[in-house]
Amino acid sequence: MTVPELQQRKAEGRKIVMVTAYDALFTRIVEEAGIDTLLVGDSLGVVVQGKKDTLSVTMDDMLYHTRLVARAAVHSLVISDMPFLSYQVSIEESVRNAGLFLQAGAAAVKIEGGESVLDRVRALTSFGIPVLGHIGMTPQSIHRYGGYKVQGKGKEPAARLHAEALALEAAGAFAVVLEAIPMDVARTITEALSIPTIGIGAGPHCDGQVLVLYDLLGLFDEFRPKFVKPYAHLKADALQALRRYREEVEQKKFPTDTESYH
Ligand code: KIV
Repeated sequence: MTVPELQQRKAEGRKIVMVTAYDALFTRIVEEAGIDTLLVGDSLGVVVQGKKDTLSVTMDDMLYHTRLVARAAVHSLVISDMPFLSYQVSIEESVRNAGLFLQAGAAAVKIEGGESVLDRVRALTSFGIPVLGHIGMTPQSIHRYGGYKVQGKGKEPAARLHAEALALEAAGAFAVVLEAIPMDVARTITEALSIPTIGIGAGPHCDGQVLVLYDLLGLFDEFRPKFVKPYAHLKADALQALRRYREEVEQKKFPTDTESYH
């Protein structure tokens, strides 16, 4: 999957299916399932590192996980999330940090924000670094929102989101993630843009969908937003397996002759 191929999907009316990936093992499983667009999301701060939000995820963390995913990805488009403070300070730092992601094996980067990041998007794309925009409920701004809250409700906030999406397209973003916004707003934006929209909590009318891998597999259940649909219950399966293993060791039922060398 390449950036132009992903964009082509919109023209063809074929949905883009994206999930987050953080390591080589799951990257292989995701590819085997036929999903070819991978986001190394800074959500790893919460689901992998156990933090309460994404704000303290570092460039080193993101580069490490990007290398793991890129090493295993055979045909997927690997997109890396630029963490908090890696692009806010200056255009120079954004270009350097985005370049490090490409050197780590990503083909594109994702940046949160609208108006405030347009100059970053222009600079990165001018140097050949594809940028995925991200507007709506952008987790790096949770303190401004006062929590993970739906954005773009009401006429004026919806119009602002719409304008930001158009501005990101004009600045050169190859697609835009729309997170936690009313489905009608997402629909209007999707119809207005010529680049694809990828929704997460933005309803069915977006050109594609993205979910956090551990949410969709039912591995992470500490916090479940309304938009998450667990397609499996791997935490329950893991708990069952681990409890059985503990019991069998304690009851001297494992290992048996079959698992022993002779
Ligand atoms: O960090 C992340 O995983 C994300 C997606 C959920 C869009 O930003």
